[in-house]
Amino acid sequence: MERLQGKRALITGAGSGMGRATAELFGRHGAAVAVTDLDDAKVSEVAAGITDAGGTAAAWRMDVSDESDVRRCVDEAADRFDGLDILINCAGIIGVDKPTHEVSEADWDAVFAVDVKGVFFATKAAVPHFLTAGGGAIVNFSSIYGLVGNDEFTPYHVAKGAVNMQTKQDAASYGRHNIRVNAVNPSTVLTPLVEGIAADYPGGLPAYEEMMTAHQSLRRLGRPIDVAHAVLFLASDEASWITGVTLPVDGGYTAR
Ligand SMILES: NC(=O)c1ccc[n+]([C@@H]2O[C@H](COP(=O)([O-])OP(=O)(O)OC[C@H]3O[C@@H](n4cnc5c(N)ncnc54)[C@H](O)[C@@H]3O)[C@@H](O)[C@H]2O)c1
Repeated sequence: MERLQGKRALITGAGSGMGRATAELFGRHGAAVAVTDLDDAKVSEVAAGITDAGGTAAAWRMDVSDESDVRRCVDEAADRFDGLDILINCAGIIGVDKPTHEVSEADWDAVFAVDVKGVFFATKAAVPHFLTAGGGAIVNFSSIYGLVGNDEFTPYHVAKGAVNMQTKQDAASYGRHNIRVNAVNPSTVLTPLVEGIAADYPGGLPAYEEMMTAHQSLRRLGRPIDVAHAVLFLASDEASWITGVTLPVDGGYTAR
């Protein structure tokens, strides 16, 4: 069943991990996918994979922290696909693992430039196209770390808290224009971002998985496709009366 037939979607951070899984799933469900990422080679590879499988996709190297680059790519993608219906703000970095008193201004700005301003810039560029189309759907990648505190990665926690509020604020602002804005809040998902952290953990991935899921109801790490399915639902017309939601996709982590 093609749940995004006729939809035109732009995905940031689509070269890797959950962005890539989302782009591939969207391609399988009939969307035309603008695959964007900082990494030129990866966007070409992901877009080629979607078209080789019979879908529609095109690739853009796009830096979400650069407003003019974002504006140019979003406009080009809308031109290519004759409009835009869906924006998935997935690009993100985790930054330094330090408590507040050890974080430099540069550490803080580096995370906020991508995780917070990236969502702002892409949303700002996409909304005029949604207004032209008569509506749209945005799904922001936040994190359980934007919902609850923890004793690590302080700038990342605060940045993802900002993404949750950007989600609610934009949902409130744009509902009258039939633009829905939701967020997914994953717990730990086994993507390249996490594989690097797990490899450095004493005992490697098995020990890391046991430690990270000890307070989770479902005791396994997430897979990118677990989150991509939630994004697909929120982006599709099946969720046409859902907006302003920050949805935990977390194996039950925040329910305990
Ligand atoms: N992996 C997890 O456990 C986890 C949990 C909760 C939330 N998240 C969030 O989900 C999103 C995806 O995470 P992932 O684990 O799939 O990450 P990943 O590292 O596998 O992929 C992130 C992608 O973002 C791209 N990117 C980085 N900076 C960019 C920039 N300035 N402009 C454009 N693209 C840029 C990277 O090139 C990469 O392809 C992120 O926002 C992350 O914070 C991840």
